[in-house]
Amino acid sequence: MPLRLLAMAVLGMIFGIIAAFIALPEARRKILPAGESIATIGKAQVGGSFALVDHAGKAVTDADFRGRWMLVYFGFTHCPDICPSSLQVMSAALDKLGAQAERITPVLISLDPERDTPQQLALYVKSFHPRLVGLTGSAEQIAAVTKAYRVYYKKVKDEKSSADYTIDHTSILYLMDAKGEFVTHFTHTASVDSIADRLRQVLQQR
Ligand code: NI
Repeated sequence: MPLRLLAMAVLGMIFGIIAAFIALPEARRKILPAGESIATIGKAQVGGSFALVDHAGKAVTDADFRGRWMLVYFGFTHCPDICPSSLQVMSAALDKLGAQAERITPVLISLDPERDTPQQLALYVKSFHPRLVGLTGSAEQIAAVTKAYRVYYKKVKDEKSSADYTIDHTSILYLMDAKGEFVTHFTHTASVDSIADRLRQVLQQR
């Protein structure tokens, strides 16, 4: 009897250690602060297929962007600071790149489908870049694309008004190639020059 108990305790410990190892990356992902490094995430794991609605109200999928590079940012039009500044930096980097930038389609995917209707996105995107494509969709469609891109987002109560809410979210620019595959990413602290230089470098290679 004590031997059986001992064996069970040892087995339990082994399972516990295995479970802890499996749970670790998941737990780390959850506590990853918005905008921090995703360097530990492999290339193949970022991105993938999506089905959304563009700012003209047209249903689109990732396949509609094939043949062009995509610079993808996840955000929302009610965002007070991080989104506008990130989109401004993205826009300025594309301007700095010059003619080569035409190979890249800048994309904003909304994390707030409730408020970000195609009409709302249409008004918003034109204040950043003439070619910026705004994408929204159902809550399920947004959940699916954020999962594919490993984007963290969470609705939180706005401290200034109880009826309102804001969204905590990852602030990263993803560069996807013409086949829709992840190439690199930029955090929201990246400068216009560093983004433009890196874009020029990767575009020259292909
Ligand atoms: Ni934001």
